This record gives sequence, C-alpha cells and structure tokens, in this order.
Amino acid sequence: MSFFPFFSKEKQSLVDVDLHSHLIPGIDDGAKDMERSIELILSLKEMGYKKLITTPHVSDMFLNSSETILKGYQALKAELTHRKIEIDIEVAAEYYADEHFEALLSKKDILTFGKEKYLLFELSYFTPHHDLESLVYDIKLAGYTPVLAHPERYVYLHDTIDEYINLKSMGVLFQINLNAIENYYSSEVTQTVKKLIAYGLVDFIGSDTHHRRHTKFLKESFSNALYQKIFKHNTILNDTLL
Ligand SMILES: [Fe+2]
Repeated sequence: MSFFPFFSKEKQSLVDVDLHSHLIPGIDDGAKDMERSIELILSLKEMGYKKLITTPHVSDMFLNSSETILKGYQALKAELTHRKIEIDIEVAAEYYADEHFEALLSKKDILTFGKEKYLLFELSYFTPHHDLESLVYDIKLAGYTPVLAHPERYVYLHDTIDEYINLKSMGVLFQINLNAIENYYSSEVTQTVKKLIAYGLVDFIGSDTHHRRHTKFLKESFSNALYQKIFKHNTILNDTLL
C-alpha cells in the first residue's frame, strides 16, 4: 500500500496474497492466451497484490491433470521472467467435488497451497452434494485442509446459516469471492456474503479472476464499505501464505 494513502489515485487490496484465480492461459475458462494472462496479472499487481496463487479448474468440464497444470504454470512463470514482471506466482487448483476428484484424493494427486496443505474445492451451484460430511472427512484424513471456494454462491445454502456453521465445525474453511460484495453475481449471493461476513465465518478472500470484467469489479470492491467490515469481523488468513 502507498505510504501516503491520500496521494494514491485508487484504493488498493488490503491483503498481499490472492489465492483463487484462473490465470494459466488456455487450460480452463480463465485467461484465453498468454497476452490476456499477463494483462490480468499486471492488473492484480497494480492493485497491490504481491503473491498470486492461481487455481485452474479440475472438473469434468476441464480435465486438467497436475501435469498439465504444472506445465502451464512453468510456461507462465517463464514468460513473467522474460518480461521482467516481478510478482510471486504459485499454483494449486480448484477441484470440483465429483468422482474424479475422489479418485485423485485417494491417490493423493492433489495440488495444494500453504503449509497447512490447503485444498480449494467447489461444489455444484444448484444440487447439494450427496454426502459432504464424508467428503470433508476424506479430505482431512488424506492430510489436507479443506477450503470451500465461494460458499456464498451455492443456491441451496442461501437461506441457511446452520449449514454454514455446521460446515465450519467440520473443519471447512471459507473463501469468499470479493466480487460478491460488489453484487457481481446476484442479490442473493450478495446477501449471503454479507451474512457470512457478519457472522465472522470468513477465512480467506479471493478474486476468482477469470477475465477483465472480474478485475474491474475487484478494483471497485476495495472502496466498498463492506470491504473494511470483512477485516473487522473475521480473521483473514490470506497473508499467512506470504
Ligand atoms: Fe474459480
């Protein structure tokens, strides 16, 4: 952050680390090519981020393996070095909780981040998982710490608070998308993210950057009154990942 905040033109990120994005070119629905990837990274760097842990999708729609992800990551890292862009970039993945994921889990073929071996996973937006309790148990048994991506986006959880509290008591950490406070997704998602913030249930904040529209909203979110509230009511772990 600027030493003289009143001189800075735009508000900046209050955390140095982002841990959810789709910046590896051409392997999921994020950055389509290297140019767009670099453009998004420069934009995040300008917002004050010092470290980006990028998390390509692993799902039946995006059949990435650890190998394809690491290969894409190496190419991106080489390009950043070539262009002399200084930013710390790491890689993990965002796992969709399906049978393929369970198979990867049993082989421990999982890309994680941080000393706690944080495992970022997502659920179906519309259909509740058939046995989330067992899945969380299996993730923990395999030695990982489950981090649920954008808990505010699952429609079947919108009218509950108990379900969220129950998930947290099972040891699931929550990563909210910052753009949810900017009403990027829907008013229900915004209401839900407000609730999670007020109840102090948030552990990580993420950009979930796929494209330019996301970074545009992200920039706006830093000026949103709710942004300050996140830090007031929650212990945010992003910068433990520096
Ligand atoms: Fe994502």
